[in-house]
Amino acid sequence: MTHESRPKRAYVETYGCQMNISDGELMEGILEGGGYQIVRTPEEADVVLVNTCAIREHAEKRVLGRVSQLNGLKRDRPDLVIGVTGCMAQRMGETLLEGAPYVDLVMGPDGYRGLPETLARLERGRGEGASGLAAHQGIGIVERPRGRGPQLAVLQLDMDENYQGLEQRRAAGPSAWVPIQRGCDHRCTYCIVPYVRGGEKNRGAAEILAEVRGLAERGVTEVTLLGQTVNSYVWEDVTFPSLLRQVARVDGIRRVRYTSPHPNDVTEALVEVMAEEPAVCEHLHLPAQAGNDRTLRRMLRRYTVDSLLGKIDLVRSAMPDIALSTDIIVAFPGETDEEFRDTLDFMRTARFHEAYTYKYSAREGTPATRLPPEDFVDADEAQARLAELIDVARGIQSEINEGEVGRVEEVLVEGTGRDEGQVRGRTRRNKVVVFDGDPGRIGAYTRTRLDRTTGATFAGTEVEVEIGEPAPV
Ligand code: SAH
Ligand code: SF4
Ligand code: F3S
Repeated sequence: MTHESRPKRAYVETYGCQMNISDGELMEGILEGGGYQIVRTPEEADVVLVNTCAIREHAEKRVLGRVSQLNGLKRDRPDLVIGVTGCMAQRMGETLLEGAPYVDLVMGPDGYRGLPETLARLERGRGEGASGLAAHQGIGIVERPRGRGPQLAVLQLDMDENYQGLEQRRAAGPSAWVPIQRGCDHRCTYCIVPYVRGGEKNRGAAEILAEVRGLAERGVTEVTLLGQTVNSYVWEDVTFPSLLRQVARVDGIRRVRYTSPHPNDVTEALVEVMAEEPAVCEHLHLPAQAGNDRTLRRMLRRYTVDSLLGKIDLVRSAMPDIALSTDIIVAFPGETDEEFRDTLDFMRTARFHEAYTYKYSAREGTPATRLPPEDFVDADEAQARLAELIDVARGIQSEINEGEVGRVEEVLVEGTGRDEGQVRGRTRRNKVVVFDGDPGRIGAYTRTRLDRTTGATFAGTEVEVEIGEPAPV
C-alpha cells in the first residue's frame, strides 16, 4: 500500500548500449516530472522498470531471467508494478506479456513521454477491475485483460518522437551522455535496431547546445554525443561537424566524444573539426563489422574494405595519435573461413586499440534470417572464429599499449579503483588508468604516467596533482 503522503517510488534498471542508458536517464527525468521519486533498489520501489536491449539473443535471455527474478518481489507486495521497456519490449510486445503474466507493462522506446499517464492508467485499471477496461482502449495502447487489472502494451513507433523538450535525470559527476539522434535509417541485414527504434530522428541543434551549456554550468566537463549513426546528424543547416564544433566550444567543456559513427559519414569536414577543436578527444569508435567485401555487401554496410582503410588513413593522417576502436561480427551467415581470415588480416592492417567482438545472433524479422539455412555457421565454428578474432585483437591491443608505457597523459578521475586508496580514470584516448589517489577527487583532471599495462588497461602514477577544480559529486 502507498500512503497519500509519500510520492510513489520508481526504480529503473537499464541494459544495452549508451543510447539505452541515456533513455533510462530520460525515463527517470519523465517520472520525476510526473511526481515520482527515483530510488536505487527495486526493493524500495512501487514501480520497477527494466529497460532492455534486443541486439543479441543472449542479451534478451539474461534480461528475461532478471524480470522473472524481480517478480519474486510481488510475493510480499502484490501492488508492485513491473514494466519492461526498451528494445526487447518493442520487439516482443504482447508475446512478452503472454509469456510473463506478472509483467504489467511493455513499452517501446517511443512511449516514454507518456509514462506517468500510462502508469496512472494501469492503476485505474486495477481499481476498476475487468469491467471498466474497454473504456480505456486508446490509440497506440493495447490492454490485455487479466485477473488483477489489465496488462498494457505501448508499442507504437512515432516518426516524430525525438523527446524534444525533455531532459534526462543525470547522476552527478563530470561526464554526461547527450542524445542527439534516435533511430536509424540504415538496414544492416543482421540488425534489429531500425525495427525497434524506427527511422532516424534528430534533435534540434539549439536545444542540444542549450543542454550542453546547462550541463557545463552544473560542473560537467565531458560530454558524449549519442546516436546510432551519430555523424549522419543534420538539423536545418547544422551538420554533425558543425554541431561538434559548437559543442566543443561551449565554455567549461573540456572533453567531447561521440558514438557510434557510421564510417560513410566520416568525412573530411568531420576529421577537420576533430583535429582542430582541442576539446574533441583523440578517440574514434569506428564499427567495421567485417573485413571482407562480400560479407560487408551482404551485411549491407555500404562500404568496402578499401574505403574503410581509406577513412582510417584520413583520420590518422590528421590525428596521428588517435586511438581507434571497432565492432566486429563473426560467423555472419554465409561467411566462409577464407572470408573470416580476411577479417583477421584487416584487423592486422587497421590495428585498432580496442575491438568489441560478437558472434552473429539471428534476430527475427531481420533480412539475414532469410538467408538459406545451409548458410548459417555452425555454433562450434562460430565460437572458434570468435576465439581466434579475440586473440588477434587482444594481441594487437597489448602491443599498442606496451608501446605506450612511459607516456604521460591527461586523465579525468572517474571513480575508485579495485584496491583501497586507488582511483580510476580515463585518458583522452579512452584508456583506463588506475593509480594511487584520493577518491574525493572524482571529477578532477590530472596528469598520469602510464607505468604498466595488463594489455587492456594501465597502472600509473600521478605526476601533477591539480588541473582545474573537481566537479561536484
Ligand atoms: N549503430 C551502431 C551499432 C549498434 S549495435 C553501428 O552501426 O555501429 C552495436 C553492435 O552490435 C554493432 O556494431 C554490431 O557489431 C553488433 N550487432 C548488432 N546486431 C548484431 C547481431 N544480430 N549479432 C551480433 N552482433 C550484432
Ligand atoms: Fe544497426 Fe546498421 Fe543502424 Fe548500426 S547502422 S544501428 S548496425 S542498422
Ligand atoms: Fe540494444 Fe536497443 Fe541499444 S537493441 S544495443 S539497447 S538500441
